[in-house]
Amino acid sequence: MSLERVLACLDANLDQSVERLKDLIRIPSISTDPAYADACRKAAQWLADDLSGLGFSASLRDTPGHPMVVAHHDGAGPDAPHVLFYGHYDVQPVDPLELWTSDPFEATVVTGPDGSRRITGRGSADDKGQLMTFVEACRAFIAETGTLPCRVTIFLEGEEESGSPSLIPFLDAHRDELAADIALVCDTNMWDRDTPAIATGLRGLVGEEVIIHAASMDLHSGYYGGAAANPIHVLARILADLHDADGRVTLPGFYDGVAELPDEVRNLWNALDFSEADFLGTAGLSVPAGEKGRSVLEQVWARPTAEVNGIEGGYTGKGFKTVIAAQARAKVSFRLVFDQDPAAVRASFRAFVTERLPADCRVEFHEHGGSGAIQLPFDSPVLATARQALGDEWPKPAVMIGMGGSIPVVGEFKRRLGVSSLLIGFGLGDDRIHSPNEKYEMTSFHKGQRSWARLLDLMGRQGA
Ligand code: BES
Repeated sequence: MSLERVLACLDANLDQSVERLKDLIRIPSISTDPAYADACRKAAQWLADDLSGLGFSASLRDTPGHPMVVAHHDGAGPDAPHVLFYGHYDVQPVDPLELWTSDPFEATVVTGPDGSRRITGRGSADDKGQLMTFVEACRAFIAETGTLPCRVTIFLEGEEESGSPSLIPFLDAHRDELAADIALVCDTNMWDRDTPAIATGLRGLVGEEVIIHAASMDLHSGYYGGAAANPIHVLARILADLHDADGRVTLPGFYDGVAELPDEVRNLWNALDFSEADFLGTAGLSVPAGEKGRSVLEQVWARPTAEVNGIEGGYTGKGFKTVIAAQARAKVSFRLVFDQDPAAVRASFRAFVTERLPADCRVEFHEHGGSGAIQLPFDSPVLATARQALGDEWPKPAVMIGMGGSIPVVGEFKRRLGVSSLLIGFGLGDDRIHSPNEKYEMTSFHKGQRSWARLLDLMGRQGA
């Protein structure tokens, strides 16, 4: 049977696939820093060349930012299901560099404290290692059978880590070319080392920067103190007002569109082997700090939040300076659930701040992206297919989980292309994505490849 040969091919070629991943990690494709623009193009070209070598018609597509990679393979022919695979080849910056125990762009295979083998380096998990699991599955299929069981379009972005500015215009301009029966997105985690997971929900995100201005210059805090408006005080009070004593967000209308968790979902989550103490303990915490009366899983997967991500103003350098700053600023993000409307949340926040401004203060806002929450159906046939494929590969059956983070492309696939997504990833909670010493487990890389091979095979036989 050809699947067995494909799986054996993946096993036999694991070392070569690791070398390929190391080559890709070596290219420092940091999208947010213009100094690495050439490296981003190089990573895109590396992928297009690799896919062309497999028989895909692959090319780079220029955008105002970093190029997209689009590759097509006709697979078993026009009647075969058509899948659209999405991943991103760009990575996060590496600072603080001194905390890395090896060069972030010189990938190595090391043994972790628990004896597991792992691949280190920036992007090893997010998302180069993850996207290469799919490419390797395609490589083995083509090597063993001469083709793929599905028609496959691979779409790789180079701006995911910097807000995807070119994504929406690109999707609109290539709607027909990217059309497919289902999108496969590999940018999420497993439940634990033995248990694969399919994410059926993602939170949305609204990003806002708020700057409060008062005096026309920084002032002596003795000469003016007591008489002058202090924008840091004003900002701090407004930000503190965003939550009430029970941890609920106080913006008018904020909970419009927020439903209670359906019982079937609550039961699924209750059945997961989850320890609040371990989850918080991993981060050095012990007491859930969010909305009262909600479990931790509900807090991170099914409840909306307001978080201050950064705050700045006045003198924060060495020593001391007696000053009343002319301005104070904060970056605030809202995670959204169910049917919350990003535009309404942004408008409510802006009104909330503006109404609280005292005399002599003015406010400036800057928008940093907005996307609604995603809920994928629990009963689609493709979900059952995916659970079967994952269950055949891993020691434990696949679970369906929520996800507190956001992947805006998923909503745009649905909205602009009419394509639903299947979110399957092989990352682990301790992969240190976005942090120093990022790693990807060898089991994630190897069994991830085998999982995609099984899913492509099943979809080819059962449909997508
Ligand atoms: N891969 C992450 C999402 C993720 C986080 C998956 C943790 C699994 C575990 C994704 O690349 C990400 O970080 N998304 C951003 C999106 C934002 C910048 C628009 C997020 O959620 O903050």
